[in-house]
Amino acid sequence: MILVTGGAGFIGSNFVLDWLAQSDEPVVNLDALTYAGNRANLASLDGDARHVFVHGDIGDRALVDGLLATHRPRAIVHFAAESHVDRSIHGPGAFVKTNVEGTFTLLEAARGFWNTLDAAEKAAFRFHHVSTDEVYGSLKPTDPPFAETNAYEPNSPYSASKAASDHLVRAWHHTYGLPVLTTNCSNNYGPYHFPEKLIPLMIVNALAGKPLPVYGDGRQIRDWLYVKDHCSGIRAVLAGGRVGETYNIGGWNEMANIDIVHTVCALLDELRPDPAGAYARLITHVTDRPGHDRRYAIDARKIERELGWRPAETFATGIRKTVQWYLDNAAWVADVQSGAYQDWIGTHYSAR
Ligand code: NAD
Ligand code: DAU
Repeated sequence: MILVTGGAGFIGSNFVLDWLAQSDEPVVNLDALTYAGNRANLASLDGDARHVFVHGDIGDRALVDGLLATHRPRAIVHFAAESHVDRSIHGPGAFVKTNVEGTFTLLEAARGFWNTLDAAEKAAFRFHHVSTDEVYGSLKPTDPPFAETNAYEPNSPYSASKAASDHLVRAWHHTYGLPVLTTNCSNNYGPYHFPEKLIPLMIVNALAGKPLPVYGDGRQIRDWLYVKDHCSGIRAVLAGGRVGETYNIGGWNEMANIDIVHTVCALLDELRPDPAGAYARLITHVTDRPGHDRRYAIDARKIERELGWRPAETFATGIRKTVQWYLDNAAWVADVQSGAYQDWIGTHYSAR
């Protein structure tokens, strides 16, 4: 079996659902159910004995030790994190706590467990750390995309905390021999994406007739990847990645934010036309994010060369599925827009 952390969040829940759709290998899913964690993402697994959900914190060493000793996973896939850049600007402490200290605790627990294994089990064990392209900093318009050899230049409290966790993972391999893998992925989108992030926020605001807040000039570039492709990339690296290596995962799909927003509006115009007029009328330029990285792009040739992975979706197919998913899942959307969500929206956007 495998231990997944953060498997009730956006990418983690997609990973668990895909994993169990493709294999009968059980998953223990450790998640603290922060504002971003949602058991409803995993509702289709209710009653499925292959999925063991544990409500708890990766920073709880006794809990993690107990889970490892009881379930004896052959791998840990570590998604759990604070993940939103804007929240890291408002309150960086939680990012250091979970992303740095939490990863440290998980590594120490993994090392303790790994040391109890016999030689064959030790060789087969993997600690897979799920990280981000933001650790590499910001690209200029003519720079080549991020390769695994790029220097780390994180610019936000979020990316600095992820960079720190990457360094810990690397050191636990180099010093203690823990068999680690790290993947650094670009911006994901798809089902179960919490509507604090650009794409789902634009969908839910548009459907509610609310302004679509675009930071600054909207010409910032991200490299968008459908979440199921990220999950297949992680599975490929977990299965065949070289121990101690890092692999960049990306969609070969650089797009400016404003073009993303127009694409979402056009799809909504087609799928759920608004009698009041085209959704693009709601686009509103607001104060920029402090320290906003201008451009991310991933060079995903290493994972393709070594493991044969490429994304299955184009942006056109992935974004259509995504918009349709939000239209089909109005109850999920209503449920996540709870009081705490409204507090965040008020805090973050009212002064912009
Ligand atoms: P998310 O915020 O949607 O989910 C995070 C999950 O972790 C939640 O279920 C939350 O409850 C859980 N969690 C938070 N703190 C915890 C703790 N202390 N102990 C246990 N569980 C805890 O995040 P996401 O977008 O799904 O990202 C998952 C991982 O992928 C993160 O490590 C993130 O850095 C990385 N990543 C995300 C993207 C992206 O575009 N979203 C891209 C590249 C990498
Ligand atoms: O690159 C990978 C990263 O992508 C992940 O590591 C992060 O966990 C994930 O949140 C994401 O970070 P971004 O900051 O790129 O994603 P976000 O959806 O917050 O913003 C995408 C772009 O859209 C960014 O340039 C900021 C802009 N934006 C965002 C919001 C929420 C807006 O213009 N308006 C908004 O309201």
